[in-house]
Formats: sequence, structure tokens, C-alpha cells
Amino acid sequence: MKRRLQKSGQGFVFSKENEKHLKAVIKKYPKGRAQSAIKECLYTAQRQIGWVSQEAVETIATFLDIAPIHVYEVATFYTMFHLAPVGKFHLQVCTTTPCWLRGSDGVLKACEKASATHGEGVFTTTEVECLGACANAPIVQINEDYYEDLNEASMTSVLEDLAAGKSRSPGSVIGRQYAAPEGGSTVLVKEKDPDNKTVETSKSEPVDVAR
Ligand code: FES
Repeated sequence: MKRRLQKSGQGFVFSKENEKHLKAVIKKYPKGRAQSAIKECLYTAQRQIGWVSQEAVETIATFLDIAPIHVYEVATFYTMFHLAPVGKFHLQVCTTTPCWLRGSDGVLKACEKASATHGEGVFTTTEVECLGACANAPIVQINEDYYEDLNEASMTSVLEDLAAGKSRSPGSVIGRQYAAPEGGSTVLVKEKDPDNKTVETSKSEPVDVAR
């Protein structure tokens, strides 16, 4: 996928606070290695204006005293850098195989519908590759949080709440603890032994070694 920079037409300067932060970051690297701070500069620019414009890339190149191409190639390689303005909620829908097998088509449909209903200024939907949380597929990253174990209905419910200004806790929408098995723990569960003492045991079926 080719990703290109866009001009904002408004120039770009780091806020005083962000400039101070980046100067402190650059000090962590050996002299002459300021280029190592490109990603932090890009991320800081994105936090400041919501996306990475061509003007921001040029400002970063000047700030780090390097050729703009070095900043350009990093900005266009990593999909976490938005090269166009995004809405208040950026919905990054994973459609790679594990999420697809678990119903990402329906989740994507819910996101696209929300973008169409509320406008791109509220919900911007982007299809992305694996978000690295396949055990809880399907996954959608909303801004900086992951929403997991989704389906079309639960995705719609999350988006309706966000559009109405209500907060929704990130993580599993089915209440699963992290990537623990659906339906609760199967090992180290507390049970009573024959002497009525509480012991930790396993609900797992014994493995038939003869099979
Ligand atoms: S395939 Fe969707 S998180 Fe890995």
C-alpha cells in the first residue's frame, strides 16, 4: 500500500511544551544520532495536530538537522502515523486471517456504517493488518485502546455509546480476562477436596495418551 504525505496548508511548529519534551528525548542519544528520535518526533507531531502533515515532516527534518527523506520514509512506512486527518475516533479494524475467521467482516460493516451515519469527523474507519492480539480476535483499535472479542452487534453498541459521549472500557467486550479461555479458568480453579479443604485444581479433561 502506497502512503503519501499531504499538505495541511497551515505550516507546522511544535508547541513550546512539545519542543522541550523532544529536546530532552534527543539528549538520550549519542551526539550525531538525533535521527534515532524520528519516531518520537512524528508521534509528538501527531499528538499535537491529530495527524502527520508534509509540513510536520519538514519541520522535524529541520529540527533534527537531517534530510527530509529520512523522516518521510519512516512516516510512510509505519501505519500508526496518520497521513491524513482522522476523526475524533479512529477505528482501525484488523481484517487479517485470525480476525477474519472470527467475524471481522461484520465488525468492519458496523464501523463503516457508523462512519457513514456520524461522519468521518467522528468515526474514521481504516482496515489494518494484524494488531498482535489475535487470541482475542476480532480486534478494533480505537485511538490508543484495543476493543476485543467483538461481533457486529457489540461493535455497534460500543460505537453508539462513544457517539453519545459515553465512555466504554477497552478490552474484551465479553468480559474475558485478558486472553484467558472463554468461559473462565480451566486450571487452578478452587474446589473442595474430600476433607472439605479448598484446593486449587484443574477443570481440564484428562488427556487420553492412548489416542
Ligand atoms: S489477526 Fe487480528 S489481531 Fe492478529
